[in-house]
Amino acid sequence: MKKIKIGIIGLGTVGTGVVKTISNFWDSIEITKIAVRDINKPRNIEGLDKSLLTDKAEEIVDNPDIDIVVEVMGGVNPALDLIKKAINNGKHIVTANKEILAKHGEELFLLAKEKNRVILYEAAIAGGIPIIMPVKTILRANKINKIAAILNGTTNYILTKMDKDGASYDEVLKEAQELGYAEADPTGDVEGFDAAYKIVTLATIAFNKRIKINGIYREGITKITDKDIKLAKELGYKIKLIASAKIDEAGRADVRVHPMLVPEGHVLANINNVTNAIMLTGKPVGEIMFTGPGAGEFPTASSVAGDILALSAEEAENVEIGETENRYYISLNTTDNPGSIGVIGTICGNHKINLTDILQKGTNPDSTAEVVVITGLSKEKNVKEALKEMKKSSAIVKINNLIRLMN
Ligand code: NAP
Ligand code: HSE
Repeated sequence: MKKIKIGIIGLGTVGTGVVKTISNFWDSIEITKIAVRDINKPRNIEGLDKSLLTDKAEEIVDNPDIDIVVEVMGGVNPALDLIKKAINNGKHIVTANKEILAKHGEELFLLAKEKNRVILYEAAIAGGIPIIMPVKTILRANKINKIAAILNGTTNYILTKMDKDGASYDEVLKEAQELGYAEADPTGDVEGFDAAYKIVTLATIAFNKRIKINGIYREGITKITDKDIKLAKELGYKIKLIASAKIDEAGRADVRVHPMLVPEGHVLANINNVTNAIMLTGKPVGEIMFTGPGAGEFPTASSVAGDILALSAEEAENVEIGETENRYYISLNTTDNPGSIGVIGTICGNHKINLTDILQKGTNPDSTAEVVVITGLSKEKNVKEALKEMKKSSAIVKINNLIRLMN
């Protein structure tokens, strides 16, 4: 079986989950190289082969043996140049990098199309929730015109803990960082940039219209106080960082990220901790909701690994027809002489073909005998060889037909 070779750029929260998932469950994928910033940093992966590590990501994007480059390092530089180089070198891309997609998606998808390569990014939007593939495939027949979502795990975690446990903002942010939910620079989370990158890409594919990142309104949760959370609660609301997108008939898109007071009975008010949720409204489906873990090592690895497997779906090896085993109906005309049927038996025997039935239906006006034999389970190539030998035999006038029996 041909193994698919992947190179991974980044071995932080997501990269670590991907390596563990692939190494533990998927023998058909070979991790050829892993690029990191610091090869001497301790890694939380039992039995990691250190010789796979490099601090030169070019060793991945320029490696002719690698089929798929998995970019899980984050940020725009140098990730953008590395992805472009990898595509130009004929590699497919799997990425979790929503920032790059929101800022440079258009140019990357055009390049990939030109080079006949694919970029998959299920992990970039809502971590472990499968949302990109459903929107692009099974929901494609819909006209989606509204999205309301919680797309950032870190901020939802902070708001939940502040609300339910009365925890302090700084304390919970630190916890979210330790749990691997937050971006390398958590400003991206708490100021709403991360959710903005995600809603831009999601709305682009859901509305089938390119939404530009610089046109959207964004506000984070840093101004939300414990007092706001308490007062909102008294009034029957939860404060959530909501990413929303609407498109009107004229094709104008209202896309934004900001905190909102959500009525306590609303489904989004009850999405807690690192869980994300996406509500889509479209025709003909109506309202549809996706929910699940929005960040963290394994949920995100699930999406990245799913994309890798989708790109590497194994081609089944075809069994040559000559190597198949079947039972056969062989219809032939023999000379009407003693021993003709015996010749058939001898030739079949020479080619390891057992006969289970023989039928002769009298003789024809041209003095040939019409004979049908049924074989036992035999290799096709042996049967073909036997037929060749029969054609050469003076006892066999004509081979009329060969039909395989259903077992
Ligand atoms: P992370 O923990 O900060 O890991 C980043 C990794 O990239 C580290 O291993 C780092 O190497 C490596 N790296 C950084 N610069 C590099 C360079 N120039 N060359 C080679 N390697 C380099 O980040 P993460 O949380 O795994 O996130 C990675 C990406 O996934 C980001 O785009 C993020 O937005 C996205 N994402 C994250 C989550 C999540 O839950 N964390 C969920 C969905 C999507 P060292 O280890 O040597 O420092
Ligand atoms: N920092 C992001 C979050 C990671 O908290 O949602 C998942 O994209």
